[in-house]
Amino acid sequence: MQLKKPEEPELGSPISEDLLSQVNQKLTAEMGLYFPKERWGDLARGIAAAASEFDFQNIECFFRWIVLSELTRNQIKTLASHLTVGETYFFRESKSLEILEEHILPELIRSRRGIDQRLRIWSAGCCTGEEPYTIAILLDRLLPDIKDWQVTITATDINPSFLKKASDGVYSEWSFRETPSRIKERYFKNRKRDQFEVFPNIKRMVTFSYLNLAEDAHPSPLSNTGAMDVILCRNVLMYFGANQVNRAIQNFYKSLVEGGWLAVSPSEISSTLFSQFVSVSFPGAYLYKKDSARRRKVEAHPYEAGEASDSLQLPLNGFAPSAPAVPLSKASEITVPSETATEQPQSTPYLEALALYEQARYRDVVDQLLAWLSRHQAGSSGEGPSAKAIALLARAYANQGLLVEALEWCGKAIAADKLDPGCHYLSATILQEQGQVEEAIKALKRALYLDHEFVPAHFALANLWLHKKNFVESGKHFRNALSLLRNYPQEAILPGSEGITAGKLAEIISSMAEGTKSV
Ligand SMILES: C[S@@+](CC[C@H](N)C(=O)[O-])C[C@H]1O[C@@H](n2cnc3c(N)ncnc32)[C@H](O)[C@@H]1O
Repeated sequence: MQLKKPEEPELGSPISEDLLSQVNQKLTAEMGLYFPKERWGDLARGIAAAASEFDFQNIECFFRWIVLSELTRNQIKTLASHLTVGETYFFRESKSLEILEEHILPELIRSRRGIDQRLRIWSAGCCTGEEPYTIAILLDRLLPDIKDWQVTITATDINPSFLKKASDGVYSEWSFRETPSRIKERYFKNRKRDQFEVFPNIKRMVTFSYLNLAEDAHPSPLSNTGAMDVILCRNVLMYFGANQVNRAIQNFYKSLVEGGWLAVSPSEISSTLFSQFVSVSFPGAYLYKKDSARRRKVEAHPYEAGEASDSLQLPLNGFAPSAPAVPLSKASEITVPSETATEQPQSTPYLEALALYEQARYRDVVDQLLAWLSRHQAGSSGEGPSAKAIALLARAYANQGLLVEALEWCGKAIAADKLDPGCHYLSATILQEQGQVEEAIKALKRALYLDHEFVPAHFALANLWLHKKNFVESGKHFRNALSLLRNYPQEAILPGSEGITAGKLAEIISSMAEGTKSV
């Protein structure tokens, strides 16, 4: 073990390998981070540096405490600020960025232009912001009419000090080591020597927030991590334990729309780990595509590295909004008989569709439910879809980013069961995504009128008011959410949250309160 800087707490007697291994296991479970033996020095130094923030003088006691404690979100944040690797820079791993810029984003833009001008990108493990700002710059270059687009770039990380630096958006020369100087001049303001601030129009495109990828709390409307077109999670999973890598990959699959893309770094490519995805080979890089209809691996395309990519037949045809078996025009003609509201959702087609939904096979959910509706409409015997099934159809559309259809089916679900606050909440999340904030607020108020104890609606309303700088209303709804959450067991999954536990949401609100002082 190396000598430490004088300000670091003393390790005292060396920590036993057994204790280091127990702490390692605990951190892997809670934060994903796995330290192989050759990095135990880093692990020991990081934990020792965190000890004083937990008021521990004796480092060994602190190690034991970590093993035995149930770590809160704030404690995980503190540990993360000492244990995570902050290596990143603008335009890192240029090959995969070129593929995004030259193929994936242009195709996506072409397929959405004039139809549904939205793009959703997630930089997972965004560190100090260089990666999501790089994506914002790419989009700014690709979209001359960017003002007419609804662009969401969600950037998340576990380390709060990285996130703070990211939101400040000020960088030194070192962050530009792979950046062409014309881009630096075009998108950054030179504040003083070796201090470059990203331009406000680029800064506004990115939303930074805390998210621990080792938790199963995504995709969720609460973290805005669903219906993503592209996810970048580069140089993050390489630090994770095997189980956590697997879970994170499964959750990314769920977070993507049909035809959406996942980019990892070249050293993280693995045919076994990403077997759910179709692996697509481009010159110089692989990307993973969600294509549940063709869940098979595509062999490398027969081109040489360096060959002009636009002459290649790249399998990029999955961008068009996915076409369900029943055409949308016809689907919207299907009416939902009002008596279906009273039927039980336990019928087999519903359960089958729910199972598909849980596997993130949203297009199959749509096909299955629309076919069921058609059969019922054609007079087949047997139950028709319940309001719950219609709501599931709306959610499946929403998770594919098909917001118009999702909203339409939300309306039908509400007509079939006027008393379900969940449908009003779902329509609020869709309206918000469409930029219809006032309508979203009205829908959330309707959800709360039906069920004043519907926690996700309080949380969403609090965030919308916060966004509108109405701190009184925002604080009121955060407080309501917190007080209602006390009635739930910590581990209970909140209805309407798609997997977030009561304890986690309470932690999220409390840590937001620290930031805003509005609760
Ligand atoms: C080496 S940086 C990669 C940054 C960027 N993606 C890139 O490729 O340049 C790894 C990032 O992953 C974050 N990270 C580590 N564990 C995480 C977790 N459980 N959840 C979210 N982010 C995590 C770290 O805080 C760090 O910012």
